[in-house]
Amino acid sequence: MPLANDIRQTAILPAKPLPIVSIGLGGIAHDAHYPAYQIAGFEVAGGFDIDSERAAMMADMFGIPRLYGSLSEAISQAPPDAVFDIAVPGGAIADILREIPRGRAALIQKPMGEDLAEAREILRICRERKLIAAINFQLRYAPFVIAARDMIERGLIGELYDLEFRVQCNTPWHLWPFLFPLPRCEILYHSIHYVDLIRSFCGNPQSVYAKTLSHPSAPDLRGGARSMIMMDYGQNPRVNVMTNHSHIYGAEKQQSYVKFEGSKGAIQIRAGLNMNYPDGVPDRFEYILLDDAEDATWQTLDIQGSWFPEAFIGTMASLMRRANGETDSLPTSVEDAILTMATVEAAYESSASGGTPLPAT
Ligand SMILES: NC(=O)c1ccc[n+]([C@@H]2O[C@H](COP(=O)([O-])OP(=O)(O)OC[C@H]3O[C@@H](n4cnc5c(N)ncnc54)[C@H](O)[C@@H]3O)[C@@H](O)[C@H]2O)c1
Repeated sequence: MPLANDIRQTAILPAKPLPIVSIGLGGIAHDAHYPAYQIAGFEVAGGFDIDSERAAMMADMFGIPRLYGSLSEAISQAPPDAVFDIAVPGGAIADILREIPRGRAALIQKPMGEDLAEAREILRICRERKLIAAINFQLRYAPFVIAARDMIERGLIGELYDLEFRVQCNTPWHLWPFLFPLPRCEILYHSIHYVDLIRSFCGNPQSVYAKTLSHPSAPDLRGGARSMIMMDYGQNPRVNVMTNHSHIYGAEKQQSYVKFEGSKGAIQIRAGLNMNYPDGVPDRFEYILLDDAEDATWQTLDIQGSWFPEAFIGTMASLMRRANGETDSLPTSVEDAILTMATVEAAYESSASGGTPLPAT
């Protein structure tokens, strides 16, 4: 059955957007934060990056009106109502947060530190300084996810039975040289988006089974380039994440999808971004509503916008709305995000402890 075209696809924007001050002007600021802010009409007041050439290039490209010479200058010169947009590697977050004045708002790129211990420290700093702080788990706000959530919350696919992520693509890891020496890579820096999204639909799993491993074609990426994660919700739903970033056999068999199966229907979404990162290939949103019809068939929903960059409007909009007092809710707050980090930690512990050995025969 085709849907009425009132399925929600966009995040709620702030009535009064706040100015943004960037800390970190690297690849993701270029590919997604700034393009998203341009679409949303959010004002960037200034930015700082420890690499001043990089900062200058970004200022030229996006017209950033002010570059600061240091973190302390960025913080002291920022407009009093500015939100801080922190986009640096996970290990650099805590030291930056320690400098943010009490009570201010900050959006922090994932992951929330390099492991759960760092996440706890980040949470402690945020609580101590009473920061309004959220982690940038923007996949929750991709237009195709907003649409899927709207359909599921309206009960259109019934009870959720099965949720699956499958990624089989050729990821350009060289874009992130900082990842190569890290002990944790694939789950912490990539599959974490899926783990977080699953939590946003299903809550916290009871436990996690996982294996993450490197790939012979990327041996320098010691923290793993492929993973299998089963999030255990008891009998229902069945949830798993399967990623293989070393599919070098051409575009034809690449895959990148999330699938929701329910008692009354299903949704399968191709997230094209992973398939030719960061340019991507077109997304595809398909659904079927059984609706007691024997001839139910798969339909396509036209979705405006994608993960990059539109999803990045949602995380920033949600932080601005919370900082403005427009809402009490902050879905990707550090208080919630630490549970995504705990799920990731459980995945690494499961992977390290291994499976059940074969019994003696
Ligand atoms: N979809 C997503 O959510 C997504 C995608 C890509 C990257 N990321 C995250 O964004 C973060 C940055 O990734 P990237 O791709 O932009 O990396 P990058 O290496 O391209 O950029 C990082 C930038 O941060 C700067 N920097 C480092 N430490 C700093 C500090 N203390 N103060 C100011 N600037 C500092 C670097 O000079 C660099 O320009 C990572 O944590 C990564 O996980 C998220």
